[in-house]
Order: sequence, then C-alpha cells, then structure tokens
Amino acid sequence: MLSVYSLVVLISSVSVCVLRVRADPVLLDQSFGCHSRLKQLHGQQVTVLMPPNITGHWVSNSCEVRPGPEFLTRSYRFNPDHTFAALQFYYEDRDCSVPSYSLLIRGSVRPLQASWLVRGGTVCEYHLSRVQLLCHGPAAATLLRTLLPPDCDPRRPPQPGLAYELWDERWAAGRDCTRGLRFSMQELRLMRMERRHHHGDAERRAEEELFLGDVHTERAQRRLHQPSGYQTPLRSAKRCGICKIVSSADLHHPPVLPVQPERPVRLHGNWVSTRCEVRPGVLFLTRHLTFDEDSRTWAGRYEHFSDPVCRHPTFSISASGNYSRGNTSTAVSGAVEFTFTVTHMAVTPMDVATTSLLNVFRGRDCGVEGSWKLGVQQDVTFTSGCAALGVRLPHTEYELFSAGQDPSGRGLLYNGQRPTDGSSPDRPDRRATSFQPPLIRCGGGQKGERRIGDQLFRLSAGCGSNAPDAIVTLILLLTLM
Ligand SMILES: *[C@@H]1O[C@H](CO)[C@@H](O)[C@H](O)[C@H]1NC(C)=O
Ligand SMILES: *[C@@H]1O[C@H](CO)[C@@H](O)[C@H](O)[C@H]1NC(C)=O
Ligand SMILES: *[C@@H]1O[C@H](CO)[C@@H](O)[C@H](O)[C@H]1NC(C)=O
Repeated sequence: MLSVYSLVVLISSVSVCVLRVRADPVLLDQSFGCHSRLKQLHGQQVTVLMPPNITGHWVSNSCEVRPGPEFLTRSYRFNPDHTFAALQFYYEDRDCSVPSYSLLIRGSVRPLQASWLVRGGTVCEYHLSRVQLLCHGPAAATLLRTLLPPDCDPRRPPQPGLAYELWDERWAAGRDCTRGLRFSMQELRLMRMERRHHHGDAERRAEEELFLGDVHTERAQRRLHQPSGYQTPLRSAKRCGICKIVSSADLHHPPVLPVQPERPVRLHGNWVSTRCEVRPGVLFLTRHLTFDEDSRTWAGRYEHFSDPVCRHPTFSISASGNYSRGNTSTAVSGAVEFTFTVTHMAVTPMDVATTSLLNVFRGRDCGVEGSWKLGVQQDVTFTSGCAALGVRLPHTEYELFSAGQDPSGRGLLYNGQRPTDGSSPDRPDRRATSFQPPLIRCGGGQKGERRIGDQLFRLSAGCGSNAPDAIVTLILLLTLM
C-alpha cells in the first residue's frame, strides 16, 4: 500500500514490521506454500528478447481495466515492414460483454534502443497514419458526439455501425478529432517481450508475452506520458480461450467476452505475486500479503530487485497494520473499497548500494542513525517511519480490491494501481479505478474453508527483535501494496 517510486522515496515510505506468528505446524505449511510459490517464480525461466521481434498478432487474454475506469480488449498486428494495425475494443461493463465503441489505429513502429530507465525494456518510436472509430450502439454514438471537438464534422456525426475518421495524417495540421477522447498510443514507446518456459512441461511450447507501456492514471497526462511501467501483457498464443475470441474479431465485429459470475472479494489468507512485477519509477518487486479478516489486520513483505526477472535483491520492506472494508465500488462492478492503515514497518537492505544509501541519511529519524547493515532488518516504526523523507506512520491509504480466478481455478486478488505520478492514494478521491497485476492465493487458511486456520493464524503486529523461541518471525508480508 505504500508506494516506492525511487529508492529515496522508498526509504521514506519504508515502514518495517515483523510479523510474529505462532509456530504452529499448520501455519508453517501455509507459509511454505507461499514460499514455494515465490521460489517457483524466481526459478522461472524467462527469456527477455532484445530487441523484440514483435512481428505477428498479439491479443488480450482478459477484459483489461484502465484507469478511469475503461474496460477494453486489444488486438494488435505488427507487420514485417514495421507498419501496424491496432484494434482497441471498448466496453460498457467490467466483463467486456457489452461493446461500446472500437478504434482502429494504423501507423508504424520500430525499436530504437534498450531503455536507460527501465531495465529489460526497449524504447520505440512510432508514427500514426490513421485513426478510425466505430460505435456499436446509439448510446456510444451520442456520448462520443459530445466528446468530439466542434471542428470535427458537425454535420456528419458518428453513427452506430459506420466507421468515422478521427484522424488522418493527410489532414491539415491542427485538426485532430481524437482530442476529446484523450486517445494516445504512447504505450508503443516502451516494449518488452518475454518468453516463459514452464518447468517440467517440455510438451508445452514456451509462451510469449508482449508488454506495452503503461497508461497514465490521470487521463489528461496520457498524451505526453513516457511509460516507465507496463500494462497487462498481450499474448501471441491463440489457444487460450479469451485470446481466441479476441483474435478473430474485427472493427465491425468486436469480441464479446462471457459474463463472469460475481466473485466475492475475500481477503482472508495469504497471497503472492505471480510474476516479477515492475512499478513505474522503476522498481522490480515481488509481494507477499496476508490478511486476517477477524482481527482486520494485514501484513506484507515487499522484496525489491535491481533486475527485471527479480534475481538480484536490493532491499525488502515488511509492513503491517489494520484495515476496514468499505462499500462496494460504484466505479468498477464487483470491486470493493477498503481503507488501510500502515502502523509498523521494517526495512532490510539487501545489497551494498542500498545499505550505504540508508546510512547516508543521518539523524533524520529513520531507524538508528548510521547503523544499517547488509541483510539486517531494522524497524523504523519507532521513528514513525522516515520523517525527514516525508513518510510518517501511521499512514492511511484508500484501496480498491477485486477478485478473480486463474485458468486452474485458483483465487486471484487484484488491488489498486498506484498513481503514475508517485503520489499515494491517501484521500478517498485518489482511490484507484484500475488494478495492479494479480496476487495468487497460496497456503491454506481461506476463511470458511478451514476454521482451524482462524485459530492458528494469529498475527501479532508488534515490532521488536527479541522473538521468543516459540515464535516464528515471518519476514513476511508487508507490501506496500
Ligand atoms: C520475426 O518473426 C517473424 C514471425 O515470427 C519471422 O517471420 C521473422 O523472420 C522474424 N524476423 C527476424 C528479423 O528475426
Ligand atoms: C486501525 O486502528 C486504529 C486504532 O484502533 C483506528 O483508529 C483506525 O481507524 C484503523 N484503521 C482502519 C483503516 O480501520
Ligand atoms: C459508503 O457509502 C455511503 C453513502 O454513499 C457513505 O456515506 C459512506 O461514507 C461510505 N462508507 C465508506 C466506508 O466509504
């Protein structure tokens, strides 16, 4: 729930905490389940292809949510001569079952160089040649008419089922009907292509994924935004269910995804990242969160890395606190609002550079001055976080959670995307309307599933280093969500 945008900010937002959990066999099982998932993640063989050869057809594998919120699916074709045709299908609903309007964007794109800012990313340049709009019903046509600038064909407004020219490079300079839509293809400025090999599954072909640049959480900033993170990756495989529906669609026949049964948002239990995540700014991390619905406490461990496959640790943050459940979201159906307080935080520098950096901040109320040691966790709760750097505990954040399921039926948990400008969602009006990559359930302890879990899963959110023998100190969880 804290955001860490740069090491410096990071330090400021670091609160550390140690979760102490009773050393019960069942609990250990749980933590091992999560531990092995994280290990699996680190052991995953991921090849990053640089420069990426993006020639081919890349499609969404889910209904994507962009800040706003906007619900969409994407189907992008990149040709060997560097031209592309990108279809974006927008919907009225969270399941992408009711198409609203679609865009067909043509242009060219080519990789320039490896990104200096985002390791593992490739910076590209692109050029747009034409943008067309198609409304799928009268409601969308009416709405889009109000969004178009006045110089855009007032006598021939968008009609359902008729392609409408929003932009053409041959038009006179200055005329641009995409303005009102806050349309942008800045996502093409940053790319990353991954090939993922599955262990012990030689039969399965390696999966390829194409990550395009992130979309700014503020609509007004989108057009100039230089991405430093990524959106949900596109897939080249056509075998998965959703990809198949999306890849066979065209401008006039948008993909209609199946309506999903409503999934209740239950936080109780343990959750870990499904991949090495990248945050704008640029940080690579894995998260492990745990929630106890009875005591309304949470804890998280955020492991940060210097590399895009999460092999070289730089520091970790443990945090904990309490939370409360709020209303169901009116912005994103099925999602629920929460309020989180971070009351404890601890930091562990994991490389020499971070250790020195922490020691540089002398006398600034951030742990014990000059005492940071490589690999040694330090509680910063007693200094109320890092005052000099602007991070004060307790810290409150307004969150949005949504539930999902992976193809094998395992629970997924989504929480709010961090604001792109590095700010914290510390007011209700800053609450996210889109999500970070999902966490997957690990261990046992799902409420209702095993009552015994409630008894054993007792977090004590105190921070301190003298853990009695009977207490296992889980350097767990706290994430900055
Ligand atoms: C890029 O990929 C395409 C399709 O997979 C292939 O036909 C083409 O030869 C590749 N280009 C290069 C330069 O490797
Ligand atoms: C956390 O607990 C404190 C103290 O009981 C309370 O004031 C605060 O409102 C709680 N925070 C949330 C998000 O429920
Ligand atoms: C839930 O919604 C009601 C009515 O809009 C509002 O008054 C209340 O503050 C909301 N509760 C929370 C926890 O946001």
